Amino acid sequence: MGFSIKYFAVVILVILSPVTGTSIGVNYGQIADNLPPPEKVVPLVKSMGATRLKLYDADPRVLKAFANTNVEFIVSVGNEYLADMKDPAKAQAWVKTNVQAYLPATKITCIAVGNEVLTFNDTSLSNNLLPAMESVYAALVSLHLDKQVSVSTAHSLAILETSYPPSAGAFRRDLVDCITQVLDFHCKTGSYFQINAYPYFAYKANPKQVPLDYVLFQPNPGNVDPVTNLHYDNMLYAQIDAVHSALASIGYKNVCVQISETGWPSKGDGDEVGATPDNARKYNCNLIKLVSQKKGTPLRPNTNLNIYVFALFNENLKPGPTSERNYGLFKPDGSPSYPLGFAGINAVGTNSSSSSSPATGTGSSTSTSSSTPAWSSPDGYLSITSDSGRIQISLKSLVLRLHTVGLISLLFYQL
Ligand SMILES: *[C@@H]1O[C@H](CO)[C@@H](O)[C@H](O)[C@H]1NC(C)=O
Ligand SMILES: *[C@@H]1O[C@H](CO)[C@@H](O)[C@H](O)[C@H]1NC(C)=O
Repeated sequence: MGFSIKYFAVVILVILSPVTGTSIGVNYGQIADNLPPPEKVVPLVKSMGATRLKLYDADPRVLKAFANTNVEFIVSVGNEYLADMKDPAKAQAWVKTNVQAYLPATKITCIAVGNEVLTFNDTSLSNNLLPAMESVYAALVSLHLDKQVSVSTAHSLAILETSYPPSAGAFRRDLVDCITQVLDFHCKTGSYFQINAYPYFAYKANPKQVPLDYVLFQPNPGNVDPVTNLHYDNMLYAQIDAVHSALASIGYKNVCVQISETGWPSKGDGDEVGATPDNARKYNCNLIKLVSQKKGTPLRPNTNLNIYVFALFNENLKPGPTSERNYGLFKPDGSPSYPLGFAGINAVGTNSSSSSSPATGTGSSTSTSSSTPAWSSPDGYLSITSDSGRIQISLKSLVLRLHTVGLISLLFYQL
């Protein structure tokens, strides 16, 4: 009897908590004419274990398809609507149509008002930012949705004038007034300060100076911030802590930071050094592993990383260099852009045995032939293959859970 209870409990606990810890968020961009319908994207997102998505609009097809899935959404108001949103009536109409109509079945938890507005250097656009955020927030308050839906706006890392060393992080002087007002808004409403951070851009601009392993979260000597003596072994941490330092330097030490975008392209033009499938795989797999380890940055070790990967799909209609169209974890047909450790839409069930290939950690000096995802390394990760996709649970939490099972069955024995 003890055995069957124990077995049952193991099964229940594992089924009830397929994804442990902080899960990664993913940006679901749709500047493309070849993406799968949102209903097909639901199982894809589930196969990744992702529980948070960010949209650049409030696409009704997506919001409907994800009803009752428990996936959390950040929806966005495009920059072209900021002027309109200043009008309280228009903001309220927008919130009713694009947010309220889907609650509570679809878990919309945040509205991002504008994307990278301040770095366009367009004063009239920048001047609309805070009024638009306030107006959208006022609409939420009047609809009694402000406790479940927050308001933010995503900034480019280029709002920083100085980002190295991290302790010297400082905002562009011409933006400080505007940023201060946005920060007051975050304090008042309890929302995140969102930053889009791409170590890839730093590498692409300076491939001879920036060590590739440092930007890809691979083993490397790293460097020490001379002021704080903190050791940095990857650039994303350094960028995030530069933001923390910039915030502290103007008196906003306690505002929480969310990385609303980060990622790495799997393909680029001839002059886009580093945009390869293998580098993209290392960046994204190592990143997802870091997030699931629930560790913070050197400056904020006890704050979980809060990160949205860019992006779910390659987007064939994005303008700009080739890299812009190749940030996707998945190709439009639903297959992974590179080996990721989850099967994709078409491959589910057909290629499930590939997860049992020998595990390689991030620590191994990777040859290009190594395609095993970082998170299946024996030093903490374990993949469970199920029919509907892959479920990752950390070994540590599994052990914890087994302890819990032990306690539960002990209680049963006592009874
Ligand atoms: C905006 O202004 C900053 C600082 O003056 C400059 O470095 C940056 O290149 C400008 N960005 C654009 C998009 O014009
Ligand atoms: C299955 O995996 C093999 C080898 O990794 C790959 O060549 C093939 O395209 C995959 N099949 C599907 C349906 O994804």
